[in-house]
Amino acid sequence: MSIYGRLGQQQGIRTAVDEFYERVLSDPQMMSYFDGVDMRRLRAHQVALLVQVTGGPAGYSGRDLAAAHEHLGITPQDFDRVVGHLAATLADLGVQPDDIAEVGAALAAHRDEIVTPSSAAS
Ligand code: HEM
Repeated sequence: MSIYGRLGQQQGIRTAVDEFYERVLSDPQMMSYFDGVDMRRLRAHQVALLVQVTGGPAGYSGRDLAAAHEHLGITPQDFDRVVGHLAATLADLGVQPDDIAEVGAALAAHRDEIVTPSSAAS
């Protein structure tokens, strides 16, 4: 079974994404990034992306990740923090450590598209 299956397919991933954004939006270091963002749309895109990277059907139709993040000035530390929130969410939901590591690696592969280059020194 793929990680997608072990996460509980669409429904399980939707639950994880909802809990993930609750964590992110209640983290004082993160919340300002999401001011004015349409969270319903963002959640839907994040679910589709996670479904795809974990071995479910490919249905992601959001923007290219570099284009979606380039205006945000995301530092490497913020990136790690967001991945940490997702890992903690999955752990809380009972996902096995090996699967969490694999999801983390799938996201880390997009690090260079998401972190803003000029923020690296800050
Ligand atoms: C860990 C890897 C990450 C992934 C896989 C990811 C994925 C996504 C996706 C799929 C979208 C939607 C794109 C669209 O609507 O077309 C998005 C948008 C967004 N992401 Fe990320 N993201 C990541 C990291 C981050 C980090 C570290 C931050 C901030 C610290 C962040 C902040 C945002 C914001 C604010 C938006 C909305 C931008 C807008 O609508 O203008 N993301 N992200």
